[in-house]
Amino acid sequence: MTTSATVDATVLTERMRALVGEIREVVGRGLPPELTAYLVGERLAPHLGAGRLLTAAQQEADPERYRQHVLHAEPDGSFSLVALVWLPGQCTPIHDHVSWCVAGVHQGQESERRYRLVSDGRTGRLVATEDVLGPQGSVAAFAPPGDIHQVRNAGTTLAVSLHVYGADVGRLGTSIRRVYRLPADEG
Ligand SMILES: [Fe+2]
Repeated sequence: MTTSATVDATVLTERMRALVGEIREVVGRGLPPELTAYLVGERLAPHLGAGRLLTAAQQEADPERYRQHVLHAEPDGSFSLVALVWLPGQCTPIHDHVSWCVAGVHQGQESERRYRLVSDGRTGRLVATEDVLGPQGSVAAFAPPGDIHQVRNAGTTLAVSLHVYGADVGRLGTSIRRVYRLPADEG
């Protein structure tokens, strides 16, 4: 996947800097991951769809794959904020995450398929459990384990989403813990 190794906080819009401050306040409370993700989602929601939130460069797509723009990585590694830009049809692999995660749809819509890993200790397969449509303005918050999913832009227009992770994505390059290439029962 494409990653952006550089994080230049000076290009953040004023509104995005305000959002980073709101997230910092929540994360700094040191609450459990599920609660932190829920509260971060509450802070993120009012900004989705707002003008002057992202610069033009932060909404640029990649014709080859969905594109990740790292907007902010907190110096202490406690959270990061990225914008993901999807052309129609672009999707992630089936994956889970290194930390709690909050995703909000800023523009367009995203489609998510959630999976459960069924294993007998020797072999494993994935069972699709839920399809979730994420229209503009929607927020999803979750924390490992049990966070296996695939996200795609199934719409006909550009999609842009904002993701907050409880980890330093600027350093790691990705929020993905594991990509699953197991047989998938699509149900
Ligand atoms: Fe994900």
